[in-house]
Amino acid sequence: MKTLLKSEAATSPPAMTSTAAQNSFPVSHNVARMQTSATMAAMQAAEALRAAGVNVCDFGPGEPDFDTPDNIKQAAIAAMKAGRTKYTPAGGIRELQRSIIEFYRKTFGAEYQPAEVMATAGGKQAIFNAVVTLIDPGDEVLIAKPYWVTFPEVVIFAGGTPVFIETEETDFVLTPDQVEQAITPRTKLLILNSPSNPSGRVLPPADFRRIMELTSERGIFVVSDECYLRFVYPPAQVFSAASLPAELRSHLCIAGSFSKTYAMTGWRVGYALAPAAWTQAMLKVQGHSTSNTNSIAQWAAVEALNGPQESVTEMLAEYTRRREWLLRTLCDIPGITCATPEGAFYAFPDVRALLKNGLKTSGEFAQRLLEEEHTVVTDGAGFGAEGFVRISYATSMDQIKEGAERIRRLAEKILQT
Ligand SMILES: Cc1ncc(COP(=O)(O)O)c(C=O)c1O
Repeated sequence: MKTLLKSEAATSPPAMTSTAAQNSFPVSHNVARMQTSATMAAMQAAEALRAAGVNVCDFGPGEPDFDTPDNIKQAAIAAMKAGRTKYTPAGGIRELQRSIIEFYRKTFGAEYQPAEVMATAGGKQAIFNAVVTLIDPGDEVLIAKPYWVTFPEVVIFAGGTPVFIETEETDFVLTPDQVEQAITPRTKLLILNSPSNPSGRVLPPADFRRIMELTSERGIFVVSDECYLRFVYPPAQVFSAASLPAELRSHLCIAGSFSKTYAMTGWRVGYALAPAAWTQAMLKVQGHSTSNTNSIAQWAAVEALNGPQESVTEMLAEYTRRREWLLRTLCDIPGITCATPEGAFYAFPDVRALLKNGLKTSGEFAQRLLEEEHTVVTDGAGFGAEGFVRISYATSMDQIKEGAERIRRLAEKILQT
């Protein structure tokens, strides 16, 4: 059990994974430098406990606990029955491309052309495509800490150098000044993620715009990961880089996803919106790797965008309720402080005041929580933020209440000893 929850990003060897070393498998240089995901490690820890019959409180999941809405499932069934089960163009069916373009036109007033949109196997593939088509060895890619685990790994895979921007002093909200200070002559790309996984923080629109001005003045490319776009809690505002003027979007790739918005994580549909030349390069990579994303899921995604949107509103209302309860409760636990997340479905509390009496790292805290209270959280070190843990509230209110009680019990125990 001990090894399961530890953030591998914080602990694994720099040159080659131990499995590869043991098997003498000649893993390629760049892949050898990649880390396995900390979020996957948390998921495995929860599964192992459950399999042993333990009553686990699982704050690990990075996916909605809701079912995919029925109208979307019905669209997939209809697509199958209609024989829409063959290859599609690598960039996706025209109906899906048009629906994505229409969504951005209606919602953000952005005019995208079909040559600037492609469907991908989740937002993750859009990010992968965008990075590998742009980055050469020696290129620097700016990534704000804490970051979603995949960002640095994709950059490393492409042979680039992740350059991390510390944001703790601004409560994990990236500022234009921080970006400006991190830029060097080798900076090729900046990856933005608002709302953020793991912090849930949201970039204020004015700062977002200023950052886009800074980068576009210098010809630096930007990937804006907007996978949590629709889960924003007022007074914070839903903001997409698509709403910026066209001249600020000439170096921009938006990575979007159906996974979180429509509870469709397993369907694997996302998209990239980028200038035509960048999209063409991404199509080349995708055409020679996965080809198109699943044809049936693409038809389901068309329904997701064009059908009733009540399910999104209902999910957001439920996340709002959970978030309020959880934040109030977390902030009341001795030794824990937590900045208010304005989006996504994560809280990212600071547990450093609990790192005492033998506990040195947030990984050890998470491990102790797992062993003594059977509660899974994800170690912040895996997201580049040692001393923090990620708590996902994409789980039922009952689980949240029970889990919060368990965290309180451990915190009180640590502080009493
Ligand atoms: C910040 C962020 N970006 C992108 C993704 C990718 O999601 P998907 O590939 O399922 O669309 C995730 C998934 O957890 C995420 O948290």
